[in-house]
Amino acid sequence: MKKFLDAISEEMKKAFEEAGYDRELGRVNISNRPDLCEYQCNGAMAGAKKYGKKPIDIANEVAEKLKDSKAFSSAEAVMPGFLNLKLDDAFLTEYVNAQMKEEKYGVEAPEKAQKIVIDYGGANVAKPLHVGHLRPAIIGESIKRIARYAGHEVIGDVHLGDWGMPMGQVITEIAERQPELAYFDENYEGDYPTEPPFTISDLEEIYPTASGKCKTDEEFKKKCLKAVYDLQHGRRGYLALWHHIMDVSVKDLKRNYGNLDVYFDLWMGESDVNDMIPDMVEKMKADGYAHISEGALVVDVREDSDKKELPPCIVVKSDGSFNYDTTDLATILWRENEIGPDHIIYITDKRQELHFTLAFRCARKCGLAKEGTVLEFIGNGTINGADGHPFKTRDGGVPRLEYLIRDIEERMLKRIRENEESRGETPLSEEEARATAKITALAALKYGDLSNQAAKDYIFDVEKFTASEGDTGPYILYTMSRIKSILRKYLGAAEGDYSPVNMKALEGLSCNVPDSVHAKEIMKDIAMFPQMVEDAFSERAPHKVCSYLFGLANDVNSFYHDTRILTEEDADKKNGYIALIRDALKLFEAGIEMLGFSAPEHM
Ligand code: ARG
Repeated sequence: MKKFLDAISEEMKKAFEEAGYDRELGRVNISNRPDLCEYQCNGAMAGAKKYGKKPIDIANEVAEKLKDSKAFSSAEAVMPGFLNLKLDDAFLTEYVNAQMKEEKYGVEAPEKAQKIVIDYGGANVAKPLHVGHLRPAIIGESIKRIARYAGHEVIGDVHLGDWGMPMGQVITEIAERQPELAYFDENYEGDYPTEPPFTISDLEEIYPTASGKCKTDEEFKKKCLKAVYDLQHGRRGYLALWHHIMDVSVKDLKRNYGNLDVYFDLWMGESDVNDMIPDMVEKMKADGYAHISEGALVVDVREDSDKKELPPCIVVKSDGSFNYDTTDLATILWRENEIGPDHIIYITDKRQELHFTLAFRCARKCGLAKEGTVLEFIGNGTINGADGHPFKTRDGGVPRLEYLIRDIEERMLKRIRENEESRGETPLSEEEARATAKITALAALKYGDLSNQAAKDYIFDVEKFTASEGDTGPYILYTMSRIKSILRKYLGAAEGDYSPVNMKALEGLSCNVPDSVHAKEIMKDIAMFPQMVEDAFSERAPHKVCSYLFGLANDVNSFYHDTRILTEEDADKKNGYIALIRDALKLFEAGIEMLGFSAPEHM
């Protein structure tokens, strides 16, 4: 079915045509003066010059043709030539009822589905996930889900940092502590132990120690760099140790991402493209793109239009090892060869923008990326503390993601108990309350992040994120919980029964022509759902999903406060109300799914 604005524009276009004007002038938009009208069309203004007429005259002629319009209950020509429009209630109702019967509530499959790789998460092996990895994970997961909902084929890749300096640091630190291990004996030819010589908590201590040493100890740092080189060039013992690091760390990362409801299709990393690098580098040299500069192999990527002087892209470092640029270049090549995407979208901290500019330009120039493949970088802003500086733990460290989540869960649990008390409800069991806190905390965290534009910094504020009123995740979930409670009661559930609503039992109901402003507002929201999905996808903007859900929640709550739903005596009216909030609930479910969290049955 046509998107709502297209559907009402179609009526307007017909009117322009009938009045003897170009039909394309009949584009209808949401009014920017909601006090005057719901929708407007400015086509008469745009056409005035072409037809050598006063805009108001054109507008009047078009308005005349709309007298019996199905879509508009009134179309008024106002000076200097606008058409102010009011939507016909029956038209809206018919539209919404048909829309909500469709599989994706009116979201149509795209003309041509795109194949999209989303590179997000970007965790580094051997390092615990910290607050800096939160945003790429949350934003990437949401963009992936939005793109899928919009009908595209999407492959999410975590692109682990598993081949650079941290690996050299961990290997070197272990070598200093346990030099007797077989991994460090260059003459050893036997098999290496199958059990790792460390646990995840050892690793969590080893990496920071090693990375700290590198800052003060030049000798140690040199050893680490050498270890990176040796690992990348296939030293057996280091590779065996590296496999242990991978096993231990990736298991932990999977658990952590799982706790965030973030799931990757590919668990690839920088190391996976190591074997492609020599040929890639040779070809870059042979094609004349790469040259030696200060001992390193580089590709010049400057362009005439650059306002700032850009450094070259370093393909091989002067010590012969590969860096972040090298692995990203080879990964583009791999993705082209193995996946053949239309788009590759990268989501990382916006401070990495230069790296991606260089890598993208180099990949284009050297023909690693095919001409038609769009390479796109989305840089996310920082999560700040109340002081406006990057969020830190009390002792000044980088906060671990696990602890951050735990704090929000604790706060959510308290809120659940506070609410039960103030509403005089029977408290949930400890187990149920904890489960609810877990679900709602994730919603608080993700919504708190996603409701901000990705590129902007924001302040991490547990109090604000967990509040049950305002533009928050819990507010959306409370609204859903309220709807579910009404639907359950409608279906005859007993007090305290929080089992899932039997949506099937409500299938036969449809919305009635709205009998209040609030009911009509909800319907207008519903009608805009497909457009919202399209915009959120094309603008890579999960915050558009948030603001849509927030608007819908406000309208649902106003409706709830002004309408007797369950006590309505007219059965037909009551059924219509139920259908309306049922439809809102369906869109909430679809929306939070796109944001990457879920709702408890009751809260
Ligand atoms: N591991 C990197 C980091 O922690 C992020 C990886 C992002 N993706 C990429 N293809 N470079 O900064």
